[in-house]
Amino acid sequence: MAEIYQANDVVRPIDVFDIRDLKKEAGQVIPKGGFGYIVGGAGDGWTLRQNTEAFNHKQLAPRVLADLEKPDPSTSILGTDIRLPAIMAPVAAQGLAHVSAESGTARGVAQSGTIMAVSTYAGQTIAEITKAGDGAPQWFQLYPSKNEKFNRWVLDQAMESGMKAIILTGDATVGGNREADIRNHFTFPLKMANLEKFGGGEGQSMSEIYAQGLQKIAPETVEKVAKLTGLPVIVKGIQTPMDAMLAIGSGASAVYVSNHGGRQLDGGPASFDVLQSIAEAVDGRVPVIFDSGIRRGQHIFKALASGADVVGIGRPAIYGLAVGGWQGVKSVFDFFYRELTMVMQLAGTKTVEEIKKTRLLDLPYGILPDLPLETEQVIR
Ligand SMILES: Cc1cc2nc3c(=O)[nH]c(=O)nc-3n(C[C@H](O)[C@H](O)[C@H](O)COP(=O)(O)O)c2cc1C
Repeated sequence: MAEIYQANDVVRPIDVFDIRDLKKEAGQVIPKGGFGYIVGGAGDGWTLRQNTEAFNHKQLAPRVLADLEKPDPSTSILGTDIRLPAIMAPVAAQGLAHVSAESGTARGVAQSGTIMAVSTYAGQTIAEITKAGDGAPQWFQLYPSKNEKFNRWVLDQAMESGMKAIILTGDATVGGNREADIRNHFTFPLKMANLEKFGGGEGQSMSEIYAQGLQKIAPETVEKVAKLTGLPVIVKGIQTPMDAMLAIGSGASAVYVSNHGGRQLDGGPASFDVLQSIAEAVDGRVPVIFDSGIRRGQHIFKALASGADVVGIGRPAIYGLAVGGWQGVKSVFDFFYRELTMVMQLAGTKTVEEIKKTRLLDLPYGILPDLPLETEQVIR
């Protein structure tokens, strides 16, 4: 008989000040197989490690005579106002972290005033998750299947539940070699509500699940999803300017720069290291969403200053869910809010628009960036 998988059921606010500590706490409450799946990366984990390390490739310019107080990190994305420029990234199988699963995250994210993305491989139904979000905006993340009936069925569910956009993830057409899962002989111990109806999910490995997915994802796939749903389509997993251009050319409403948190192609660059060149190619035609490696408010600031409009929070929110349910998720978003507003103050930016205009430093090998225009005007 299969062992019973027992995730945490405690709901409480948590004291978050360093995501590395929170990860350790999460490791004490998430069963081993689930924890390995959540924290693990592909192959040697090189790309996973680089994702956070890369934020040190650029530095913040401290400002002292910027004449501002009470910075405001609120912004909007695809017509939705959010309290901070960070959304919940799509994360599969959240019941591995906490018994409340995606509903817990949806509630915590709604209370944080931002957008929840819901994975195709969620444990609960789309209707259950939107209900838990209590009317807060949500986006549905699609892993297209080889089974066309499934694609139509799941997109219908998303539309009926009032999802505001579709994220089409293109970087997981096969599973990356997740060695922790292999070592732990990890198969999903809980059901995946959307797959269940079509005979998949529970008892399968990640690679077996991805094998049911569509391998040939092309610009036509973007067009098709946009046509079927009439919703904005966001292409996720973009790591090159070429794919960003293909996405926009096929009607994408946003580009989502991500390397899946280093879980897919090990040996690829840190997501942050490719962000600026992709944003320059996109050149404001559509919004740019960014994730992979965000662990501090300064990382959000640096991503925005490098061309992102908003960022996605992945593992940190799942650690919060594991330790404190919906309140833990809220504590994590509160932490990012607090750190980001502190950085905005110390780096002399009052609004998200001002962060986007800020130039980061590239020291010690680079040169100080040009002075921004407004500054030139005040030099006498
Ligand atoms: C446990 C786990 C499950 C994930 N499941 C999905 C998924 O179902 N769909 C998807 O597009 N991305 C998925 N991702 C990737 C996240 O959306 C996001 O890109 C990644 O977590 C960012 O890296 P970070 O959490 O290290 O910052 C998953 C990530 C993790 C950690």
